[in-house]
Amino acid sequence: MKKVTILDVQAMKDRGEKITMLTAYDYAFGKIVDACGVDIILVGDSVGTVVQGVANTLPVTMEEMIYHTRMVARGRARALLVFDMPFMSYQESVEQARRNAGRAIKESGAEAVKLEGGENVAEAIAAIVNMDVPVMAHIGLTPQSVHRMGGFKVQGREAKQRKKLLADAKAVEDAGAFAVVLECVPAELAAEITRRLKIPTIGIGSGIRCDGQVLVIHDLLGLYTDRKISFVKQYVNLNQAIVKAVVTYLDEVRRGAFPGKEHTFFMKPKKRTKK
Ligand code: KIV
Repeated sequence: MKKVTILDVQAMKDRGEKITMLTAYDYAFGKIVDACGVDIILVGDSVGTVVQGVANTLPVTMEEMIYHTRMVARGRARALLVFDMPFMSYQESVEQARRNAGRAIKESGAEAVKLEGGENVAEAIAAIVNMDVPVMAHIGLTPQSVHRMGGFKVQGREAKQRKKLLADAKAVEDAGAFAVVLECVPAELAAEITRRLKIPTIGIGSGIRCDGQVLVIHDLLGLYTDRKISFVKQYVNLNQAIVKAVVTYLDEVRRGAFPGKEHTFFMKPKKRTKK
């Protein structure tokens, strides 16, 4: 089994092969999605919303990201592992960005970092890449900017926003990013960015013509009933399956039907002594 590197990801774009990316936050999911053959695993700061239960990604810390990425790294054998830099781990200064990106790689087992922003973070991207740490950029709807954007909204529908997104895409490529996530960008604009850039684009809510796609694993698996996102395709209803299993367990315990003999240890039968 050949380990996926940033060179493979670029070669996939060059060959016109779609790139697959999924999030994971712990050993179990890291192991499962890796065994399925996903190309890139992102330990997203979406850990805040789907694992910790907070309202947005802003409270997530470096320590938490390192903790979760280490778990995923233990389960992952093949996929390229990307560490999502949390809010205020790279925005303060280029020095802070370098220090935390270095720490992410050194302490978590990831091979690349992701950070949000375009022209505004180009200098930080260049400085991190200059330390030989690969950077995945993220433009469009950038959840760490939720308060500036006034909510989680599609970005790039107006002419001014469109121009800005094209400039952001060019800036992150020029800064040395190896790929860029396009989140909630209109499909036509995402296609135009994908055409203009040499590096791969990974879309989420940005249409079919990106070089690859990413989803949050909890959304794909249908783990929540109260998280309805229009661009997500739910491939299975695990919430329903889990509820069914747990309710059955509760019922069997209460009725005395579990544990059965096959789930029970017994004393060894006493050896008979010959007379
Ligand atoms: O944090 C995350 O999961 C992400 C993906 C949605 C791209 O940034």
